[in-house]
Formats: sequence, C-alpha cells, structure tokens
Amino acid sequence: MKALTIALAMALLLSIGLNVAVRRSQVVTRPPLEYFPDMVRTPRYNAFEANPNFADGMTLRTPPPGTIPRGMLPLASEPGGGGEDPENPFGPDDPAAVERGAVMFDTFCVPCHGKTGEGDGLVVQHGYPAPPSLTSPGTRGMVDAEIFAAITNGLGTMPSYGAQIARDDRWKAILHLRKLQAASQPAEPPPGGPR
Ligand code: HEC
Repeated sequence: MKALTIALAMALLLSIGLNVAVRRSQVVTRPPLEYFPDMVRTPRYNAFEANPNFADGMTLRTPPPGTIPRGMLPLASEPGGGGEDPENPFGPDDPAAVERGAVMFDTFCVPCHGKTGEGDGLVVQHGYPAPPSLTSPGTRGMVDAEIFAAITNGLGTMPSYGAQIARDDRWKAILHLRKLQAASQPAEPPPGGPR
C-alpha cells in the first residue's frame, strides 16, 4: 500500500513537471483538442489587405454611388440637402462636447477669428481680410443652424470647412463660440437699451 502511494505521488510530480516543461518551451501554444473553437480563428481579410475576390483587388469596398450612410442624411445647408437644419444636437451641459468644440475652434477658427473671436488671428495679422468680431451683436443674432451653414459652405470671403470638420464637430465648435460670446460683453447695448 505504501509503495503504491509513493508510486502515485511520483507519477503526479512527473506529470506536473512535464506540464510545466512543455508549456515553458512553447511547444504547445493551444490545447491539442478544441471542443467548439467558435470563430476564434476565422479566415478573413484585413481592411487594407489585397483581396483576390474582387475585380479591383481591394478588401475595402467603395459605397455604391448615390447611397448615404445611415444617420448621415445631408442637412439643409449641406450639398444635396433639403428641408431645414435642426437645432444644435449638443448643448452646453455636455462637458465632452464643449471640450471637443474648444479643440475644433482652436484648430480651425482661431487662425482667422482669433482666440477670443475678435478677428485678430495670425492669418489676419499677415494680411488676410479681417472677419467681423464673432462676439458682435450681428453674430450673436445668428442661430446655430446659420453658423453651421457658414462653417459648412463658407460665407463671403470665409472658405468652407465642411470637408475638414466632421458634422458633429461643427455643431460642437459652435458651443465654444457661444461660450466666447457669453464671456464677452456685447459691443453695443441690445436693442431697446441696456437692461
Ligand atoms: C481663413 C479664415 C477663416 C477661418 C479659418 C474661419 N473663418 Fe469665419 N469668417 C472669416 C471671414 C473673412 C468672415 C467674414 C466673411 C464675410 O462676411 O465676407 C467670417 C465670418 C464668419 C461668421 C459670420 C460672422 C458675421 O457676423 O457675419 C461666422 C459665424 C464664422 N465666420 C464662424 C467661423 C467658425 C466657427 C470657424 C471655425 C470652424 C471659422 N469661422 C473659420 C474667416 C475665417
């Protein structure tokens, strides 16, 4: 009986030892028998990989002409759009949107309009026609959809930024613009005199 216990203990130790040795040596990288491998190893092409299944040899497909991705119906102010531009889908109570809007404004608007929107950006200092102050009563009076249209299509001497700034980011940049307006006093008292 004692001999059997010792033999079994030795067999157990040997088995553990072999297990450790084999795993350490990386000979076995996956279980020898896979019961239900599901889709762990799926034959597929990576996005930018050449693909013999298509005539153009590319894996990424070009959307068929005339199709619109879900949720990206053009707005009234965008090429091909109709109807009316909606309200700004983001609000000042959304800190992430406000933060993103500040990044967008600082990147795309500040070169001309300046950090505070007064129209004294670096490009203007080098001779570009100065835009009106964005904190003027005129710009304060524009609704968000009008500003959205100005960013999307350009306005007078201001070029369009529809191709550079994603739709959501354009709305968010307007949140920052409104913050600048709130932070500065109106240049003139509102119509009807100061309240
Ligand atoms: C290349 C310089 C330039 C850039 C960059 C630029 N703008 Fe302008 N913007 C102008 C000029 C110039 C005008 C005046 C256009 C005119 O009336 O002819 C203007 C006008 C505007 C107006 C209308 C102001 C009013 O009261 O008439 C708004 C709003 C505006 N810009 C917002 C933006 C926003 C937001 C951005 C960033 C997404 C931006 N602009 C980027 C040059 C620029």
